[in-house]
Amino acid sequence: MSDKNLPGAPTSQPVSFDEPTTPTGPPAPKPDQAGPANVSPTGADYRADPTTNAQQGERLTSAVGIPLRNTDHSLTAGPRGPILLQDQHFREKISHFDHERIPERVVHARGAAAHGVFEANGAAEGITRAAFLQRGVRTPTFVRFSTVLGSRGSMDTARDTRGFATKFYTTDGNYDLVGNNIPVFFIQDAIKFPDVVHAAKPHPDREIPQAQSAHDTFWDLVSLHTEAQHHTMWNMSDRGIPRSYRTMEGFGIHTFRLVNAAGETTLVKFHWKPKLGVHSTTWEEAQIAGGVDPDFHRRDLADAIEAGAHPQWDFGVQTFPDSEDQTFEGIDLLDPTKIVPEELAPVQIIGTMTLNRNPINYFAETEQVMFNPANLVPGIDVTYDPLLQGRLFSYQDTQLTRLGGPNFQQIPINRPHAPVNDMLRDGFHQDAVHGGVAPYHPNSLDQNNPLPTPPEQGSFIEVPQRFEAVTDRKKAASFDDHFSQTALFFRSLTPVEQEHVINAYTFELSRCWDETIRARQLQCLANVDARLCAEVATGLGLEAPSPTEPATDTATSPALSQVGGQWPVDGRQVGIVVDGASDLGAVSDLRSALLAAGVVPLVVAPTGGRLGNGIVANRTWANAASVEFDAVVLTTTAAPAPDARVARDAKAGQDDRPGVDPRIDKLLGEVWRHAKAIAALPEAEASLRAAGVDAGAPGVTVGGAGDVGTAVLAALAKHRAWERFPTTV
Ligand code: HEM
Repeated sequence: MSDKNLPGAPTSQPVSFDEPTTPTGPPAPKPDQAGPANVSPTGADYRADPTTNAQQGERLTSAVGIPLRNTDHSLTAGPRGPILLQDQHFREKISHFDHERIPERVVHARGAAAHGVFEANGAAEGITRAAFLQRGVRTPTFVRFSTVLGSRGSMDTARDTRGFATKFYTTDGNYDLVGNNIPVFFIQDAIKFPDVVHAAKPHPDREIPQAQSAHDTFWDLVSLHTEAQHHTMWNMSDRGIPRSYRTMEGFGIHTFRLVNAAGETTLVKFHWKPKLGVHSTTWEEAQIAGGVDPDFHRRDLADAIEAGAHPQWDFGVQTFPDSEDQTFEGIDLLDPTKIVPEELAPVQIIGTMTLNRNPINYFAETEQVMFNPANLVPGIDVTYDPLLQGRLFSYQDTQLTRLGGPNFQQIPINRPHAPVNDMLRDGFHQDAVHGGVAPYHPNSLDQNNPLPTPPEQGSFIEVPQRFEAVTDRKKAASFDDHFSQTALFFRSLTPVEQEHVINAYTFELSRCWDETIRARQLQCLANVDARLCAEVATGLGLEAPSPTEPATDTATSPALSQVGGQWPVDGRQVGIVVDGASDLGAVSDLRSALLAAGVVPLVVAPTGGRLGNGIVANRTWANAASVEFDAVVLTTTAAPAPDARVARDAKAGQDDRPGVDPRIDKLLGEVWRHAKAIAALPEAEASLRAAGVDAGAPGVTVGGAGDVGTAVLAALAKHRAWERFPTTV
């Protein structure tokens, strides 16, 4: 039984009850899926359907195409005898299985990805000759989002930074923009990367805690190495617990250098702005989702694309003159722990990216994709940000191990869509069949092929820089201020967002075993904001220390807050609670109105199956979780269902509100606490109130199906009914 409106169907094929016996060949991908473009390892277009990369033929074969008669039984000496060494199918099958895993990424191991297209609007034409940034040029992209700290199987909703890595398959070769959802980084110099990662990863003795920063080694390092304080503050804010990959901003973080056709240079910072706005979970939602659906973000991205709600981001730049000192308004542009507030340098939009296809195969695409900040195309160059400089070495180096040798650029997802004529040869997993006899330069035997491209014909040119410097191991004095922008960020948040920050620091530090570490981090907070420090100190039962750094100015950057706008509702999920007493005509109208608005309605019924008018129950009262709904509509009094028995489900033991099913009571209590939109048909109002929901509160509506649908859509556009969060200021 299926619901064609609900994303997540496991296959493109109808599913038969009995084991099928008629050969049909490999299944086609689902309509929302696409694999890597079908180009050769050297970038030639095969002009073949991408499914030619998938398995072929109708019958089971060995890896070398030999037809096989049976894969359920090994070849044994008699039905109960030992397996024979000559069983090539057994050995091949087991041996290949034994080698199915490759090392996970050393950081950003947990991720999800999608194919897309980027279209430039031409606004950057004057400052860069990059071909893919010229007006109207459409460039295929592949984007991988990730958490940083957790292992491959860890939960999506951990409090952490998110990776936002984009591969542009441009006509000048692949350009990788490997950014995060936070615009600053923990460290200023790449040589500290192993230190910060070792501190943040699980403790080396017990290998706990998984995928989180609420532990001693993390706070030990960031409270000693105080340049980490700014990034840490972003992690403790709502930015550390995004609602969806689709609602995250992305940042290139470093300052890059764009070069135009005349060779003139401009310094820029790259930004991705989600059309859906920036939206986060609450801390309680993040924790619930981590348990009930560890794949929360992965599922959200795939479901949205499958449902046709293709996420979009505007791509923008902040521009700065390429001055001798590479500073702007007193901010050192080479310091990756600093932002330039958008109020000082507005983000100018230079194109838009749409993610429109899910990968066909997780391993082939999402796991094997490689990104490298050193993959630059003509028109884009690096600066000497010491963090970026180190990254230029690290990615290729790690991929030699992770992807098993030097030819990982030839893996289908990594292949450029531009011609490749390099002189790299041989090595493990060589897929190209190189011609000629002279892979060296100069040569006459291959007519000196390949000849370099002259600069005027579009080769990559490193921007010449003049140096007069003395070698040393020390930082510029302009990198010394670790607190003023940390304070700027905190000050720029609305009161409710500040409350979340206070709560996050208090929670995380209270999970540290060592009181010295807590006290040391409190000292850092004292240098940021007295109230923040005092509130966290109270929560920890410690004295709030006095600042050791001079107070900073009082400027704010309203662009840093994520509260207060209105955004499209595409792909949002609304739970509609029904039972046998519901008016199914009203339920049907509501579903239609939500579907027409691009919202996914999920019918939550006491049991699975179909409702009287053929609507499929997408969730049951027992398996529904509040976190998967952005809003909930109650269409029934929700009297306790027959399976509301404590022997089956402990939460069914709550009998303090006997009129409402305890699972629905809990569901309503959570969406109320999380300030989500709630609505009820008039017949359900009493149960709404019984569950503790104030029917007159912001974001709560009681009315007929039409009114309720309109009200829910309006409330969803604001992300949350922020007024329902009480604040202490
Ligand atoms: C601004 C600072 C940084 C940002 C925004 C950043 C971002 C990212 C992202 C998004 C990924 C995941 C890419 C994917 O999805 O495959 C990644 C992976 C990685 N990063 Fe960074 N990173 C930063 C700093 C560094 C530094 C300083 C180093 C080392 C010196 C480093 C080393 C790595 C390594 C080794 C990987 C794994 C790559 C792989 O296995 O393919 N990163 N980084």
